[in-house]
Amino acid sequence: METPKLRAAITAIEAYVPDYILTNEELSTMVDTSDEWIMSRVGIRERRILKGEHGMTFMAVKAVKALLEKNNVDPSEIGAIICSTVTPDMVFPSSASIIAGECGIVDAMTFDMNAACAGFIHALKTASLYIESGFCKKALIVSGEKMSSITDYTDRNTCPLFGDGAGAVLLEGRTDGTGLQDAILRTDGVGKEFLYMYAGGSLHPATHETVANRQHYIYQDGKNVFKWAVTKMADVSAEIMERNNLQPEDIAYLLPHQANLRIIDAVANRMGIDKDKDTKVLVNIDKYGNTSSATIPILIWDNQSKFKKGDNLIFSSFGAGFAWGSVWLKWSI
Ligand code: UT7
Repeated sequence: METPKLRAAITAIEAYVPDYILTNEELSTMVDTSDEWIMSRVGIRERRILKGEHGMTFMAVKAVKALLEKNNVDPSEIGAIICSTVTPDMVFPSSASIIAGECGIVDAMTFDMNAACAGFIHALKTASLYIESGFCKKALIVSGEKMSSITDYTDRNTCPLFGDGAGAVLLEGRTDGTGLQDAILRTDGVGKEFLYMYAGGSLHPATHETVANRQHYIYQDGKNVFKWAVTKMADVSAEIMERNNLQPEDIAYLLPHQANLRIIDAVANRMGIDKDKDTKVLVNIDKYGNTSSATIPILIWDNQSKFKKGDNLIFSSFGAGFAWGSVWLKWSI
């Protein structure tokens, strides 16, 4: 008899979002914008902001500790931690190693991954290879972002878009057919000029000038990013269905990156899912905004009670680079 294939499966999920709610009304007192503009163009009503002298790992540690405690996982069982983020606490050491230290996880392999908004799906594929190869039995993916630390609250083009939060998933091997089934991950370096943070890296280290010129904040050419996101995220989501012979009715839920409701609509459309008639397109952009690589794990956490074992879930994302992709996973819990 053939040995059943070992697949990496999500066996636990937790997330943490800060208490402070920044509403469109409050934003309207900071820049020339309105609830009407933000809701109609993007679909965000409010976002969470981490106040106080905390870095991103403050939220990630909360999520990981809750995950370990609620699921009775001994920290010593964790063999690998991949932290996807564009807002690490510091350039080094890695945030993954800081999270490990705070959570009592020793001797695990840890590293940070930057695939911008598509970080979670990149980390998911990477960690799945460690599980499926037998390198480790339990791996954590932690996607955390303190986007407020790189958002310019004098720039109305970007400040309504982003929020803070973190999500963590536990990956373990399963031989019951559930778990990660397929992943398509792509990059086109053309994105470099449309979405970036200019200063703070080795090319443009911090100087008085970079600070005065407000170059330590997100720059986005929204229109161009929008065009690329709509096309590429929709293409890759359709492609993962086609190459696995999945029909719209086979998909239990679509979990898209939460950057813009209009992008989500376009992706669903392309997959043959009517978002208005169907509840399978999961959305929480109205509550949390764009938390970059944390959007999908926060979306899983928010909706986990809906999922049944064996449900086909599609995760799709697009972000800076450009880096994007789509993942098909059968829910395991
Ligand atoms: O997660 C990583 C990937 N990122 C994305 O996928 C984001 C992709 N881009 C987008 O979602 C959209 O392009 C935005 C939401 C960022 C912007 O929406 P848009 O419909 O592309 O607006 P726009 O940038 O073309 O601006 C349209 C108008 C402009 O005014 P004029 O030039 O037409 O007079 C802007 O100045 O809206 C103005 N505007 C605003 N007005 C009120 C821009 N931001 C605001 C604002 N409030 N916050």
